Amino acid sequence: MTAVVEARHLSRFYEVKTSPFKPAKILRAVSDMSFTLEPGKTLAVVGESGCGKSTLARVVTMIEQPSEGDLTIDGIPVATADAGQRRRLRSAVQIVFQDPYGSLNPRKKIGTILEEPLKINTSLTRSERRQAAEAMLSKVGLRPEHYDRYPHMFSGGQRQRVAIARALMLRPKVVVADEPVSALDVSIQAQVLNLLMDLQDEFGLAYLFISHGLSVVEHIADDLVVMYLGRPVEHGTKEAIFRHPRHPYTRALLASTPFVDPTKRAERVVLSGELPSPMNPPPGCAFHRRCPFATDVCSVERPELRPVDGRDVACHHAEMVN
Ligand SMILES: Nc1ncnc2c1ncn2[C@@H]1O[C@H](COP(=O)(O)OP(=O)(O)O)[C@@H](O)[C@H]1O
Ligand code: SF4
Ligand SMILES: [Mg+2]
Repeated sequence: MTAVVEARHLSRFYEVKTSPFKPAKILRAVSDMSFTLEPGKTLAVVGESGCGKSTLARVVTMIEQPSEGDLTIDGIPVATADAGQRRRLRSAVQIVFQDPYGSLNPRKKIGTILEEPLKINTSLTRSERRQAAEAMLSKVGLRPEHYDRYPHMFSGGQRQRVAIARALMLRPKVVVADEPVSALDVSIQAQVLNLLMDLQDEFGLAYLFISHGLSVVEHIADDLVVMYLGRPVEHGTKEAIFRHPRHPYTRALLASTPFVDPTKRAERVVLSGELPSPMNPPPGCAFHRRCPFATDVCSVERPELRPVDGRDVACHHAEMVN
């Protein structure tokens, strides 16, 4: 199947001034991310807070440009797309943010929020727009009468349904969901995840699904990429990684995941120490100061991603981790 998103060696760096007297430092928020996303599939991106997930989301949704690397969406290389192609791509990729309270304008009615993308990007009439908005409300489990209500009249879960509806108004091919259930009560999370999976089936959507934990992605993901300090450390099918994580960091994440089937749990690797700063990444393997398997080579040589046991792993000792 043809990929709907192709990312090759994507990186995003920021210049950060720490003092007016010192030159700016380079913060490598995302380095060397490559992946393929196919229609109807979900690639989950998992890692601790600060590891670069939202930065990746902004690059893939073209909110920000990559500092290095190539992004191709729906067969169009983003870097060289002309104005018409860019418009098309903007409709093709939509984003759902983590915070359903901050992402909806409190002064606008739900109907207005849903119709805005149609107003800007289509020539639909007022009544056609209303019809489309009401139809989408029912697709996300809300009711047509919610059209005239304001965001504050809804619960967090309902607001996230509105944000999902808004993202789907232009019939995108790809939805980047940046921790879409992290701000919701655990009891509501499964409902919103189920909704996302139903909508994926109905519209053939591809998801780049971002999460800081593995439990949330256990059911929704087809493939998984685990990030550490801006870099991919393990990338493969969900089955392979859940069954037998090969990177010590993935093992630590999996061992600290409460909902994952305990028979699938790897022997415990406990995460100790703080996540280092991406402004001053440790030399060698960025994980070496927290890794129970580290040896001398780990503090000197950065491990490249390489195929091990049916997935890619960036660890010198991936074969020994079992
Ligand atoms: N606009 C920016 N300018 C400077 N640093 C940034 C900017 N955006 C993100 N960062 C830094 O990049 C790193 C990754 O951030 P982010 O992508 O938000 O991570 P995550 O979503 O995984 O929590 C963090 O160290 C963050 O401080
Ligand atoms: S390369 Fe070394 S420090 Fe890094 S994860 Fe593998 S064993 Fe641990
Ligand atoms: Mg984030």
